[in-house]
Amino acid sequence: MRHLHTRTTRTRVVGALAAALLCAAGLAAPTATASPVAPALDDGLALTPPMGFNNWNSTHCRAEFNESMVKGVADIFVEKGLKDAGYEYVNLDDCWALPSRDANGKLVPDPVRFPSGIKAVADYVHSKGLKFGIYTSAGTKTCNSAGFPGALGHEYSDAQQFADWGVDYLKYDNCNNQGVDAKLRYTTMRDALRATGRPIVYSICEWGQNKPWEWAADVGHLWRTTGDISDTWGSMLAILKKNLPLAPYAGPGRWNDPDMLEVGNGGMTGTEYRSHFSMWAIMAAPLLIGSDLRSASQETFEILGNREVIAVDQDPLGKQGTVISSEGGRWVVAKEMRDGSRAVALFNESGTAQRISTSATAVGLPAADAYTLRDLWQHRSYNTAGTISATVPAHGTVLVRVAADPAWAKNPPAVELGLEGSPFAEAGKPAALTSTVTDLGRTTAQRVSVSLSGPEGWAVKATSPTTSPALPTGRSLRTGWTITAPQGTPTGSYGLTLKASYRSPAGVRVESAVPLTLSVVVPPPSGTSGLGDLPWLSATNGWGPVERNTSNGESAAGDGRPITIGGVVYGKGLGVHAESAVEYYTGGACETVRADVGVDDEKGADGTVAFEIWADGTKSASTGTLTNAMPAQPITADVTGAQIVRLVVSDGGDGIDSDHADWADVRVSC
Ligand code: GLA
Repeated sequence: MRHLHTRTTRTRVVGALAAALLCAAGLAAPTATASPVAPALDDGLALTPPMGFNNWNSTHCRAEFNESMVKGVADIFVEKGLKDAGYEYVNLDDCWALPSRDANGKLVPDPVRFPSGIKAVADYVHSKGLKFGIYTSAGTKTCNSAGFPGALGHEYSDAQQFADWGVDYLKYDNCNNQGVDAKLRYTTMRDALRATGRPIVYSICEWGQNKPWEWAADVGHLWRTTGDISDTWGSMLAILKKNLPLAPYAGPGRWNDPDMLEVGNGGMTGTEYRSHFSMWAIMAAPLLIGSDLRSASQETFEILGNREVIAVDQDPLGKQGTVISSEGGRWVVAKEMRDGSRAVALFNESGTAQRISTSATAVGLPAADAYTLRDLWQHRSYNTAGTISATVPAHGTVLVRVAADPAWAKNPPAVELGLEGSPFAEAGKPAALTSTVTDLGRTTAQRVSVSLSGPEGWAVKATSPTTSPALPTGRSLRTGWTITAPQGTPTGSYGLTLKASYRSPAGVRVESAVPLTLSVVVPPPSGTSGLGDLPWLSATNGWGPVERNTSNGESAAGDGRPITIGGVVYGKGLGVHAESAVEYYTGGACETVRADVGVDDEKGADGTVAFEIWADGTKSASTGTLTNAMPAQPITADVTGAQIVRLVVSDGGDGIDSDHADWADVRVSC
């Protein structure tokens, strides 16, 4: 991990296996039975998860973090309807102060960033009907290497200064804590805030190091459960997996905080940001916008402003969603809502579209003839006879709210679209796939038709009927297709769109579509080839891109160094960073994959990783945890018959810091 600032205590993101992609056997996260926690602070604050803005994820300490940004965000909250949607706190993060206190021991705002002072900014935010938040550390200094003053030993005077400025929210970090007991440090600030008499939401930011969920319910209103998020799919996923099992500890006034939103910062796709937002909402996480709204896209506003998703997060019952099932990267997470309905997320961790399925009773609803199912991203309602199921695009989330609703019959039946067969094709050769359109509703889908389209110039032909006059509950229209990519189509992933149209018994026409992908592949050459030189199907990495034939340099493509493990330099291989997964198409034509693996010498003692080689859904070979001090280890996997081989690196259980992992001299024999 990149060191954006120095600190005495390091952040840890203990990721579960982030690369449980297509077929890994992920286990359901445990859900505790008894409520394990003390009652929340009895002050009426944060009865639903705090919502607002914090500058850190978009600016860190850069100069654009200043008074005009903060005021600009407050303006946008009002102008763009985000305030009406529930966003309330406008919060400053680190770097707002000067490095030294004044002669009276008071904190001094940086006059370049905040020429009008903090009180004036707080007043401005308040004048918009919003609330104002600030940051410091439960240590002698904050986290930034410039060394801004922390509040350890100054708790009462700093809290009073914040209250005098009109602060409504304090984020209290963990850096430079001098080894003082965390519970003591955070409790002292709780008491100091209380002594001011001002209601101040208190956000504990000790990164989950001391299991605050076990002791902080009557200390703060929320507590970070993990290290810092970054604007990557891998980071978001690792944090999600760490936060999900903590559901029993959350409730009104006491929230698990998986860190602030990255939506809109540019490092993930729109699909991934919708997953991030959906999953934060179903986890009843604080929703603190982390992008600079002054330059945000329409899509960013649409995601952050989705009131049906916000309502899931803000439900007054205050339950965090729990994992109903998790297998092969297909997650079902359900959240009980105060009105008795359930929000249900069908979350696809994997790199290809997956069918993810559950039922109304499995998510805790009473048995009934039918239910109303509301799609919270499509903003449409259907009826279902009980199945909650969808083909979810790679890295996507279908988020629905399901209710045992006597008025279900006024909605058209839900249908599920699917595509069977392996989504790979060689250019110029027809691939055979089968589409399915299945009625999940209690009522009949009538005048059903299906279509499949591919990129310009591709031949897509139906080989069996594409229409059905009527599909009763549970029945499917199955249609065969051949798809041919033109000769010379470069390898890569291409979009297909599967569409269905049907009518409800009342004649309401419904159109539904699902984006899918087909990978154009070349079979691996026969003989032995270096995987550093072959095209991959997909690659995910904890920091920066996967590198061919060099180590991982953490940021841009091509910034690595020669692969070196235990002093041995290798000319070929893959340089990755945990958590990582690289998938290759082997098309059933290969026998073995072998490599010399280890932590690259360029990193220090924090680097601990474990390597796995998967053949389709089977883990075929793995190492134990390897450290930076160890020489390269050979690994060999039998991949006979596999369509896909996946090279996985997990973090060795201690977070991804410094986890530069090398697949030195990795080769496939076909
Ligand atoms: C720590 C926190 C982050 C951010 C930075 C500021 O890393 O976990 O959220 O506040 O400090 O320096």
